[in-house]
Amino acid sequence: MAAAPPFVIEGLGKSFGSVRAVHDLSFRVEPGRVTGFLGPNGSGKTTTLRMLLGLVRPTEGRALVGDRPYAEHPVPGALVGAALEATGFHPGRTGLGHLEVYAAQVGADRARAREVLGMVGMSEAAGRKVGGYSLGMRQRLGLATALLADPPALVLDEPVNGLDPEGIVWLRQFLRHLAEQGRTVLVSSHVLGEVQHTVDDVVIIKAGQLVHASSLSGLAELADQVTRVVAPDAEAFARLAADRGWSTHPVAGRGGTPGVGADVVGASAAEVGAACFAVGLELHQLATRGTDLEDVFFRLTGHAADPTVGEGAA
Ligand SMILES: Nc1ncnc2c1ncn2[C@@H]1O[C@H](COP(=O)(O)OP(=O)(O)OP(=O)(O)O)[C@@H](O)[C@H]1O
Ligand SMILES: [Mg+2]
Repeated sequence: MAAAPPFVIEGLGKSFGSVRAVHDLSFRVEPGRVTGFLGPNGSGKTTTLRMLLGLVRPTEGRALVGDRPYAEHPVPGALVGAALEATGFHPGRTGLGHLEVYAAQVGADRARAREVLGMVGMSEAAGRKVGGYSLGMRQRLGLATALLADPPALVLDEPVNGLDPEGIVWLRQFLRHLAEQGRTVLVSSHVLGEVQHTVDDVVIIKAGQLVHASSLSGLAELADQVTRVVAPDAEAFARLAADRGWSTHPVAGRGGTPGVGADVVGASAAEVGAACFAVGLELHQLATRGTDLEDVFFRLTGHAADPTVGEGAA
């Protein structure tokens, strides 16, 4: 196996007409680790992965595999194995037939095609037509295709979609094993919980922009630092939060009063209290709320799991 390259995303952006799918996005994906690329539907994950793989031309910045763009490598398909949305299969071909077509393109042989089918638990379906495969079976075939060249780096777009619980556990172990071999493994998902037990690092985007990148334990630390604030002057508080660079998520007041409360992610109650005191901002509530990973993910991406102020603040 060739040396595993990092992926380097630098100021990357893509607009489709007036739709800004990705904007000013920078992050790194390191070899030997599984990185979760997370964000809600439509946040720009697939567009970013397509730019990384040279399928979409960026309108700003660049996406590199190691020291250069994907397409500038001598045999890019042998360096990065990719499985994007599981749709590009010819329905009339068998699973093995499909792999044999792709094997030829990346310099793998028929024996390797059978081998990768075995690796994804699909040997028994080798002779069946892909048109009759279930979603989970197509996902496994996509993964097998990505593995054909034994690539040192992998890009998998929502590989968990359609897998049954047993398949999810299997994929988790499989991806961990690939990373332990030193490969670079980038996996997208719109649900943190799906990949929480699989990933070492997380990159979280919202509306095409980075909101968080760290190790999984870094995200867990952030989950311990959620501070709930109730300020009667919500606009002044929002300005202060923007000044300080805090990520905030609005929470409705008791009885649905809008705009009086906010959860600040990544700042302690002491920090928030001191900052409010310094500018003379009145507070009606200031409390540390431990939360879980899923919840902090929702807050970072703008969906509240618990949208009411007042009850149970510890
Ligand atoms: N070819 C295209 N033409 C126009 N708009 C596009 C195109 N591809 C993506 N978009 C838009 O770019 C935005 C990001 O889409 P993208 O598919 O990258 O999101 P995603 O994070 O992969 O979402 P999902 O979780 O649903 O897969 C969306 O607003 C989408 O409509
Ligand atoms: Mg997508």
